Amino acid sequence: MTIQEFVSQLDQLSEKATKAFADATDADSLDQARIAFLGSKKGELKAIQKSMGAVPKESKKEAGLKFNEVKGAIQQAFEAAQARLLGGSGSRVADPKFDATLPGTAFRVGRLHPITQTINELKDIMGRLGFTPAEGPEIEDDYHNFEALNIPRVHPARDPLDNFYLSVAGKTNDGALSDNPLLMRSQTSTVQIRVMEDTKPPIRIVSLGRVYRPDETDATHYPMFHQIEGLMVDENVTLADLKTVLNLFATNYLGNEVPVRIRPSFFPFTEPSVEADYFWDGRWVEFGGAGIVDPNVLRSVGYDPETYSGFAFGLGIERLCMIRHQIKDIRDLFTNDVRFLRQF
Ligand code: PHE
Repeated sequence: MTIQEFVSQLDQLSEKATKAFADATDADSLDQARIAFLGSKKGELKAIQKSMGAVPKESKKEAGLKFNEVKGAIQQAFEAAQARLLGGSGSRVADPKFDATLPGTAFRVGRLHPITQTINELKDIMGRLGFTPAEGPEIEDDYHNFEALNIPRVHPARDPLDNFYLSVAGKTNDGALSDNPLLMRSQTSTVQIRVMEDTKPPIRIVSLGRVYRPDETDATHYPMFHQIEGLMVDENVTLADLKTVLNLFATNYLGNEVPVRIRPSFFPFTEPSVEADYFWDGRWVEFGGAGIVDPNVLRSVGYDPETYSGFAFGLGIERLCMIRHQIKDIRDLFTNDVRFLRQF
């Protein structure tokens, strides 16, 4: 073998090995590359070292120098990949000052998802206003998701295409029509009913959780998102109470004095119904729906609407989180790329 052939073999190997280490995506693929190139028995570097015997005597010195240079480069590529993937160089183990019993610093400590952080904070704010957290199931029945909320049978919100029904279009598994099909809840207003069924007024609860709608996914829509539902029932509760609570809520979450306005709207379970906006960053931003609990809803849970009144609101949690952190695309919250999540 000529010295030129030997050198060119080494150069090719160097390129191949450097690329393999740079491409390694986890500890396993890194280890495979290490064995393939640096392995002491079948490693490619070893094989080339053996072929050095065939290089003419007068070129041996040059071959040796070149070999060591390439070996060093490959070794370095390996260590760089190791540091990148494992957060530290293996050679540290041999360092006498290295104490393996100390807690690792190279590992990143985990953190709560930004939505979970937002939920905790919102719970906290509402807690200070006297609202206790309440929960309801994510698999709901038609009664709690629609019927008790005064949403009539023919209402478009019940359309099978707008909901994740668990039994097809109200049919049970044996094909019979079910009166009360199950679905993934489409709103947290279900929890209003569940709480009122079990408790007598006065009531002040918040419920934070997932809801599901078969929406096309884009920068502001996702088929699963989170809502915060508030409910207050007592004697003489009015829209003024609602507006005060929303104002304190927005001001606490976003900081500074945040003005809130309400516009007329419609929901079957509130009368009057409003759409609430808050003023943020020079413009009005939609907050969510709210209103005075419809007397039919109070009746459905056995409350006397002549004695009690209440307000309810339902706001999207993603939107609040995204405004506050200037997140532009809702999908970033759920693709779980740690480089994104680490920022919060
Ligand atoms: N549930 C409604 C929605 O998802 C919001 C809402 C809640 C409206 C409570 C009024 C009262 O759009």
